[in-house]
Amino acid sequence: MKIAVIQGPNLNMLGVREQHIYGPMTLDQIHEQMKGSAEQNGIELEFFQSNLEGEIVDKIQECLGEVDGIVINPAAYSHTSIAIRDALSAVAMPTVEVHISNIYKREEFRKNSITAAACTGVVSGFGPFGYHMGLMAVTQILSEIQAGQQMAQEQGKQEEKPAE
Ligand code: DQA
Repeated sequence: MKIAVIQGPNLNMLGVREQHIYGPMTLDQIHEQMKGSAEQNGIELEFFQSNLEGEIVDKIQECLGEVDGIVINPAAYSHTSIAIRDALSAVAMPTVEVHISNIYKREEFRKNSITAAACTGVVSGFGPFGYHMGLMAVTQILSEIQAGQQMAQEQGKQEEKPAE
């Protein structure tokens, strides 16, 4: 199982930017923690951060056929980007949107996420732990899909067997 972790603009500044909102952890530290729990669960992670909308759209498109699910924090683009939302809808894979802060508790313009509607679910307000929650959620969804596929395959085999 492979999952892409996609980080939007200014998240490379974590640990420096507005620590009273986002806390002291750097993006590298968050990714290290994610790697630790992913390894324990046999999941491969791929990390990507960009401050540019088009690069994020490209990355999402590249996920098709390369990874099984996505954890994404589109950051400020969550509130503005129809292009990122369309890319997520286009690849249509299990995706969890993560926000470190609780966007519903903040300025009016942050309360609406345009991209969230193209995701399976959203985690918001749990600090960097939200990434772990997002990862666990995508993993769970993928396991359920796999189990469903296995069951369907077994049922198909049963139906193929000639009646005795
Ligand atoms: C954020 C919330 C966004 O509103 C903001 O623009 C960010 C970070 C979060 O993780 O809480 O850059 O996505």
